[in-house]
Amino acid sequence: MSWKSENMELRVITAKGIAVKIRNFEMPDIRRVMEIEEQSFLDGDAELYLELYEEWREGFLVAEKEDRVIGFVVMVLPPEGEGRVFALAVDSRYRGEGVGRTLLKAAFSVLRKIKIGYVLLEVRVSNVVAQRLYKSMGFVEIGFVPFYYKDGEGAIVMRKVL
Ligand SMILES: CC(C)(COP(=O)(O)OP(=O)(O)OC[C@H]1O[C@@H](n2cnc3c(N)ncnc32)[C@H](O)[C@@H]1OP(=O)(O)O)[C@@H](O)C(=O)NCCC(=O)NCCS
Repeated sequence: MSWKSENMELRVITAKGIAVKIRNFEMPDIRRVMEIEEQSFLDGDAELYLELYEEWREGFLVAEKEDRVIGFVVMVLPPEGEGRVFALAVDSRYRGEGVGRTLLKAAFSVLRKIKIGYVLLEVRVSNVVAQRLYKSMGFVEIGFVPFYYKDGEGAIVMRKVL
C-alpha cells in the first residue's frame, strides 16, 4: 500500500510538562528504537521494524527530547481498512511524563488524515499500565487472543473509533 509521503514535525509540551518533538522515524534512529524496545520486552526485531518502515513510512513516529529519541510508535495498515498500533514504547527513564499519550495522539492524527475510521491494538493481559493508557484514550476491549505472544501470554484486543 502506498500513501503520499507527508512528513510530520510537531513540537509539543506534554500534559506533564516535558518538551518533545514528534517526527517521522529515520533510518539512523533504529539503534535507539532497538535500545528502547529491548528495555520494553516487546517482540520486535530491527529487521521487522525496518520492513514496517518501508511499508508505510508515515506510520512510524518517534519522540525526541533534546535530539535524543526517547519513544516511538509504529502503526500498520491492514487491508481491512483499519489502523493498527503495532508497537508503542517510551524509554524507561522518561515514562509517566506524557510521552506515550503524545505519541498516540500524533499517530491518530496521521490515521485521521487518511480517513481511517478506527484503530485496533493488542496488549498483554499483564500490561495494566498500557491498558490504563489505552482506556483513558477511548479504547474498549473487544476480544482476547490466547497465547498471542512468543512467551505464551494472551492478548487483549482493543479498539477505538477515531
Ligand atoms: C505503555 C507506555 C508506552 C506508556 O508511556 P508513558 O509515556 O509512560 O505514558 P504517559 O506518561 O503518556 O501516561 C499515560 C497514561 O498511562 C498510564 N500510566 C502511565 N504510567 C503509569 C504507571 N506507572 N502506573 C499506572 N498507570 C500508568 C496512566 O493512565 C497515564 O495517564 P495519567 O498520567 O493521565 O494517569 C510505557 O509505559 C512503555 O513504554 N511501556 C513498555 C512498553 C509497552 O508496554 N508498550 C505497550 C505495548 S501494548
